[in-house]
Amino acid sequence: MQRPDQIREIKILMDLVEKKTTSMADGVMEIDVNEYTSPEQFEQEKIALFRNYAQFVGPSCLVSNAGDYYAFDDTGIPILVVRNADGKLNAFVNICSHRGAPLAECASGQARRGKMFSCPYHGWSYNLDGELVGIPFGKDGFPGVDRGKLGLRPLQVEEKYGMIFVMPNPELTFDIDEVLSGIQERVSGFGFEDHHYLGVKQVYTDFSWKLNMDTFHEFYHFEFLHPESIGTMAYSNIANYQQYGRNHSMGSPSLRINELKDKPEAEWEPREFSSFVNYIFPNTVIFVVNDHFQTWRVYPISPGRSVVYHSMFIPEKPKNEDEQKAFEGYFQMINDVAVTEDYGLVDRVHRGLQAGLERKVIIGRNEPGVQNMHRQLHDLLDA
Ligand code: FES
Ligand SMILES: [Fe+2]
Repeated sequence: MQRPDQIREIKILMDLVEKKTTSMADGVMEIDVNEYTSPEQFEQEKIALFRNYAQFVGPSCLVSNAGDYYAFDDTGIPILVVRNADGKLNAFVNICSHRGAPLAECASGQARRGKMFSCPYHGWSYNLDGELVGIPFGKDGFPGVDRGKLGLRPLQVEEKYGMIFVMPNPELTFDIDEVLSGIQERVSGFGFEDHHYLGVKQVYTDFSWKLNMDTFHEFYHFEFLHPESIGTMAYSNIANYQQYGRNHSMGSPSLRINELKDKPEAEWEPREFSSFVNYIFPNTVIFVVNDHFQTWRVYPISPGRSVVYHSMFIPEKPKNEDEQKAFEGYFQMINDVAVTEDYGLVDRVHRGLQAGLERKVIIGRNEPGVQNMHRQLHDLLDA
């Protein structure tokens, strides 16, 4: 969002605060409780949403330089994304053509000498374009083997508006504009290309990936669940909701937003007074707040277990150790709020859902984000 859009958003949020209301869905939605616990639906979701649907990987600055890579295997297919010498992104199935070891660990890093991957098992090496360039003892051990056919298996990867998406299934392709469906209007202009990657926190949770996502899609719970943390910073139950294809964006006013009434518009600093939860279907939230942004990516492990990766991106590299410590402390504090306050409660929600009682989960008109995720998911599974 550029400044004029940020100002427009601030005015909408001030109006919602004034009227003490929030964006509303058309009606109340009900979801069968079994949707959270059914092993059959879980298997369908893993295939339709995580294996056969384009996945948000991260902002461009996650892999800024030639040789920078990012590897993960939470979609069921091990994936390796790497920037080549020309600055172009490549993605491959992270499986060595010899006997199947992963070429890079699940994390971000630099290829060897910025140029190649060398398999940790028997040392076969591949360049940044996935070509097999070396087989130790190859002449005698692998005579007649066609190296040209043994490169890493390519995956479709797209980089646009500072965001990286990959299709895990090597048999499938996707249209990046259709996947984004306009959400770039909300998220571009925040420096996704050039922020500094502070790091990632991995948290395992003993509940459904969908319960995990649900916590991000409404601000209705702030005053009750977060009275001492988020509740002291942002209005409860006030959000400006916008839908973009399967994705959505929710603006949130800071409790200080009315201070702007006393200032001329030209002096407004919109980012200080609002934050944005941008949802990228099916499993990602890009949270834009103050001068930085965070990503939360949630993956299913089993119907009752999921894993979340919380990453922090700050405007520039900390100048000294004190600055580094301050950012890390802040990062930890935000993560702690989610883990102790949200996940601590959702853990118990999960137990209730698992009680085996026929029940509906009710999603209010004031929770359009929660409704959207479940509606999109139904739509895709039905298709
Ligand atoms: S599995 Fe990679 S070199 Fe053997
Ligand atoms: Fe929360």
